[in-house]
Amino acid sequence: MFLDVPMQPILVVDSAQAATDLLEKRSHLYSDRLQLLMPKLMSWDFSMALMPYGADWRAHRKAFHRYFEPNALPAYDDIIRHEISACISRLLDSPENITIHVRQMFASMILQIVYGMKIHSLDDEFIRVVEEALDGANRAGAIGENWVEFLPFLQYIPSWLPGGRTSRLAERYKPFVENMIKGPLQKVRSALNEGVAIPCIANSMLMELQDKVGSSELPLDQERLLRNVTGVAYIGASDTTVSAVTSFLLAMALYPNVQKKAQEELDRVVGTGRLPEPSDWDSLVYIQAVTLETMRWIPAGPLAVPHRLTEDDEYNGYFIPAGTIVIPNAWAMLHDPSDYPEPGTFKPERFIKDGRIDPNVRNPRAFAFGFGRRVCPGEDLGFNAVGLFIATALQVFNISAGVDADSKPQKLSTEVRDGFIIHPITVPTGISPRSDAAERLIREQPASV
Ligand code: HEM
Repeated sequence: MFLDVPMQPILVVDSAQAATDLLEKRSHLYSDRLQLLMPKLMSWDFSMALMPYGADWRAHRKAFHRYFEPNALPAYDDIIRHEISACISRLLDSPENITIHVRQMFASMILQIVYGMKIHSLDDEFIRVVEEALDGANRAGAIGENWVEFLPFLQYIPSWLPGGRTSRLAERYKPFVENMIKGPLQKVRSALNEGVAIPCIANSMLMELQDKVGSSELPLDQERLLRNVTGVAYIGASDTTVSAVTSFLLAMALYPNVQKKAQEELDRVVGTGRLPEPSDWDSLVYIQAVTLETMRWIPAGPLAVPHRLTEDDEYNGYFIPAGTIVIPNAWAMLHDPSDYPEPGTFKPERFIKDGRIDPNVRNPRAFAFGFGRRVCPGEDLGFNAVGLFIATALQVFNISAGVDADSKPQKLSTEVRDGFIIHPITVPTGISPRSDAAERLIREQPASV
């Protein structure tokens, strides 16, 4: 669908074929991003996800990839397992706070991996700083509300003058964004200066860069790379993973037969005396299918992040002008009945043939994690962590609708809260141990980090 909006043409891509042809095969043309002024004025331009396509973005991707490519991931297994165990332990005690527990689990996981930073609750000072920064991002992204996008001179009107809204917003949110990306890094650096190396990505990257330049003082460009690469991980990882897990919980409560089948597989492969480990993954074919179906059924980012075309192009006889914003409609691709019959039904079986994942069924990861050169660089970490949580939760808990805030039986629906990242509106709270053995196993886990 082409929207001929004056000054800003928009192309919405609904089909897997067109997405592959344009965003994958011609990815050298379709990998730019729309550059807005308001996020830049708030310092959000540190984020690789918003950077224009080019050498600077490439340098950031390359540095990020080193720490998140599949071979780097086993180093984080202990942190992931520990955080999942702590989460199921908290879930046993207060299942009604499920969303908070899941959010804390992923926040703590990624912050430990990146900064060696443990958070003990969502009231942690750093999380509050991030929430403010994200509030700023939402306001900056509301293009229609920010006249500065159409009248750039507005950025020069001081905040104390009428018409100074742009400066007021920038002054309000910029400190939070800068604090978010500089604060934790400062702690890692201070620890290193005191001779205590915190094992984490920020520390490894800092040491490597210091070795490379032969000094503890990094040149500005290296300092910026370090700050940006570490700073973007929490932003990319936190909400997407929570969305996937809440969609999974919803699916389990709505489809008890799927839940039962998954639990049978877990009992057969893992047994009842221990929690699932990453090394069980290859044998847990049904759990793999449940994880894939979760990503397909309610994709966390249904419209990915819009791409931008850098040169005039032509496709199937249609002219597409340079500068067109391309919105990949991943939701439509993941709900296309020709690839996924009965797309609204949660049916992991669609991915299995002869006891294995069927390579002839289109893998939903190809759409759920974005496209071409901009594909999510945290895909493997995100998928693995969500998958291990799914296996662990199903091994020890039965999941049902539970009660709502007024203690009345909860009516579940598949409606989602709108946004760049979507979340189911109703989240099951009926989380109870499957058996006495499961309860004992949970109680053996640490309750907090
Ligand atoms: C279930 C988990 C996740 C989902 C569903 C997800 C989804 C996405 C999607 C749809 C995009 C946009 C791709 C495009 O523009 O075509 C994206 C980009 C990105 N994601 Fe993820 N993501 C997840 C986890 C993570 C994790 C764990 C990290 C970091 C460790 C991360 C970091 C990023 C970054 C940095 C980008 C921007 C890439 C760029 O513009 O070059 N994501 N993700």
